[in-house]
Amino acid sequence: MRLLVTGGAGFIGSNYVRRRLATHPADTVVVLDKLTYAGRRENLEDLPEQRLEFAEGDISDRDAVASAIEGCDAVVNFAAESHVDRSIASPGEFITTDVFGAFVLLEAARDTGIRHLQVSTDEVYGSIENGSFTEVSPLEPSSPYSASKAGGDLIVQAFQRTYGADALICRSSNNYGAFQHPEKLIPLCVLNALAGDPLPVYGDGKQVRNWLYVEDNCAAIDVVLERGEAGEVYNVGGPDELANIDVVRMILELTGRDESLIEHVTDRPGHDRRYSLAWTKLEALGWKPQVGFGEGLRRTVEWYRDNASWWEPIRSGEYREYYERQYGRALG
Ligand code: NAD
Ligand code: DAU
Repeated sequence: MRLLVTGGAGFIGSNYVRRRLATHPADTVVVLDKLTYAGRRENLEDLPEQRLEFAEGDISDRDAVASAIEGCDAVVNFAAESHVDRSIASPGEFITTDVFGAFVLLEAARDTGIRHLQVSTDEVYGSIENGSFTEVSPLEPSSPYSASKAGGDLIVQAFQRTYGADALICRSSNNYGAFQHPEKLIPLCVLNALAGDPLPVYGDGKQVRNWLYVEDNCAAIDVVLERGEAGEVYNVGGPDELANIDVVRMILELTGRDESLIEHVTDRPGHDRRYSLAWTKLEALGWKPQVGFGEGLRRTVEWYRDNASWWEPIRSGEYREYYERQYGRALG
């Protein structure tokens, strides 16, 4: 298979490309990525050059998409603006990429007659107090990020129903693991803890997330790509639900720091209290998560400890200004 992976230089996308090339030795992967602040060519640099083509470009640019999709057998769309806090500060790019970009890509996949797998999120369902979201739960997004992802999902479903496009959706819960940008809770807290800086916890820290090790998500995406039905949605949930404050405490323990580093800061506006996904539909296709949170977090902390050359340039670039704007203080 020749697979187009958009957003393949980001966190989940690069983990997916690495896994796909390892598990499908006859495949070629074409990555189309705009290389925003979140995308890095270095994330793919150890991979076999003869089976990986890289194109720098925007999914909302029809010409860039037409040229990247040529000769491909399927598309997996990871390309998105992905950070909730940035969507609150500046929503425009989220609409352009996550809604319009998804549409441009989908139209090209439909015209080429190939499968389009949209990588989406549990955040489109909003917050749930008890129980878990299923694939037919209503969409009630809270942030500009989740609203734009919901917009992308609805266009995918409309294209399948209206044109019979071979399009389908994965909605996953919070991923964590290697190569995640330090704007997100887990890498942010791991790096701050290693540096002895405060760990900013929004509000009371009792918001619950359903953590999913990134490699389990990548395996799920392949199962859906290969065995999923057009027009269907598949939830990809993690094995563990934890309150943020407990995640932060586990990070402190793994990095040998104490709780004096915890700092409760102003809550995120519109902050969803709890995410929880039911993933029995995907289990019926033969997938289940393999890595529990304790083990996954241990591996993640180890990866960040061993890969300072990966994160040091990020922490010294645009991220410093972002951190100052977001947290009202300089990064230590
Ligand atoms: P990320 O921010 O790490 O990576 C996004 C990638 O997309 C980057 O490489 C960036 O350069 C690229 N990109 C952004 N705009 C683009 C555009 N217009 N054209 C081409 N490339 C563009 O994000 P991530 O955490 O790896 O998330 C990947 C996908 O998975 C997103 O669609 C996100 O909504 C979804 N998702 C993420 C999580 C999570 O926990 N991280 C959970 C569920 C779903
Ligand atoms: O649920 C899936 C979603 O998970 C994905 O769709 C998004 O792309 C991804 O960014 C992630 O969104 P969250 O907002 O849940 O992730 P984040 O790491 O930003 O925050 C996790 C939780 O931690 C959330 O409740 C907010 C809180 N938090 C986050 C940061 C950055 C803090 O308490 N302090 C922080 O500094």
